[in-house]
Amino acid sequence: MESSYCFIIMENLMIKRIQTLLKQKETNIKVTIRGWIRTRRDTGSFSFLEVNDGSCLVNLQVIADKTLVNYEDEISKLGAGCSVVVTGILRESPAKGQDVELHAELVEVVGWADPESYPLQKKRHSLEFLRSICHLRPRTNALGAVTRVRSRLSFAVHNFFQERDFAQIHTPIITTSDCEGAGEMFQVRASDEKKRNKEPFFGLQAGLTVSGQLQAEVYALALGQVYTFGPTFRAENSNTSRHLAEFWMIEPEMAFCDLDCNMELATDLLKFVLQDILDNCVDDLALFDKFIEKGLVKKLQDVVNKDFVHITYGEAVEKLSGLKEKFEYPVEWGIDLQSEHERYLSEELYKCPVIVSDYPASLKPFYMRLSDDEKTVAAMDILVPGIGEIVGGSQREERLDILTRRMNEAGIDLEEYDWYLDLRRYGTVPHAGFGLGFERLVQFATGMKNIREVIPFPRTPGFAPC
Ligand code: 4AD
Ligand code: MG
Repeated sequence: MESSYCFIIMENLMIKRIQTLLKQKETNIKVTIRGWIRTRRDTGSFSFLEVNDGSCLVNLQVIADKTLVNYEDEISKLGAGCSVVVTGILRESPAKGQDVELHAELVEVVGWADPESYPLQKKRHSLEFLRSICHLRPRTNALGAVTRVRSRLSFAVHNFFQERDFAQIHTPIITTSDCEGAGEMFQVRASDEKKRNKEPFFGLQAGLTVSGQLQAEVYALALGQVYTFGPTFRAENSNTSRHLAEFWMIEPEMAFCDLDCNMELATDLLKFVLQDILDNCVDDLALFDKFIEKGLVKKLQDVVNKDFVHITYGEAVEKLSGLKEKFEYPVEWGIDLQSEHERYLSEELYKCPVIVSDYPASLKPFYMRLSDDEKTVAAMDILVPGIGEIVGGSQREERLDILTRRMNEAGIDLEEYDWYLDLRRYGTVPHAGFGLGFERLVQFATGMKNIREVIPFPRTPGFAPC
């Protein structure tokens, strides 16, 4: 029998938990919630306060009666951005589209927000404007949802690898080796090095890592299957919607693995993490589907359920060069595929993720395994609609003589990479791995057009707030 005197008392409940309780039809619970006011609306004898605590998209509607002791002095002055602690009873709501409301017994105002100056008023703000207030934008529906989806994707990545017995390796952030050899490293120096004309702090010229791959290879050749998931840095001067100077990368590395098993792992990883958010981020994805990218959920379901297309670079060039007039950069064998080409393949031609393999050796770094034709390497990129390249990987060159030849051709100092060559001198094995750009994954998963929306504090040329 329902009785207003019989309560389950649950203090400090996140609104997300309340949503679950409601699904189990639990009401008449006394709870305390803590969050920020989104809006206040007054009626005859009470005020409606929409409170959001960041745990989920949904606000909890609080009913604050005018008989509350601090109604006149405080509650009636609450506005967007104020922080509150509310204790009350959850009751089924008579209002349509609203499961439950919290009948307040106590509304404690923790922090005020001046409505004259608080930038997040009720109207919808553009994503560009929100970028200029990176410290406040997570309080909006869209950026809050991105943050939760990003967190869930990160959790799913770890689950995927841990379930498959991969060991996580924390590869260094400061390094003396330039994995990609593309001259895009930020240098790291002690602040007084120049002043005092001293030796470099680390003996050698050091920089911020562009990839943890070379160090992951060390551990793969000892532990078999490893992955690193950390920040990487690139001083490339590209102000595009898919480049950041600081981004996070997931890099697995597997011993006794060739290009085929590498492609299989990358495909399984993408499908696994997207399925995970389809299961666990339903409300947030629905928001993106409605306001950011129509059809997003269907797109993600298709990626999970359908096979990826696999073509070689040669086949891609053949398809693209027949369409000369379509592109700014004409396509012929030997050119690096540009974003427009990558997107054409995945967006228009196949309309699904496309794995492109066997790129010309001249386009790729020294560590990729040279194929028998001596013209191509065992490389693979995965291209997705809307973004282009999301994964870049390869089978690594495990043969000492060929690796040293390739390094010499690339002008790399063999002595500095002696440790890397040792991996081929002692117990070398075929091995492979890839890098999945985490922000590009979050971009794909949320439909955000600009990569700056999917990392809390984006760093791009000329821009590094907070
Ligand atoms: O293709 P990349 O350069 O590959 C590597 O760094 C390899 N060492 C990875 C490996 O085999 N372990 O980068 C991998 C991925 C890209 O496919 C892209 O998703 C992302 O990293 N990426 C960027 N994301 C954001 N901003 C940038 N500037 C990025 N550059 C690469
Ligand atoms: Mg690449």
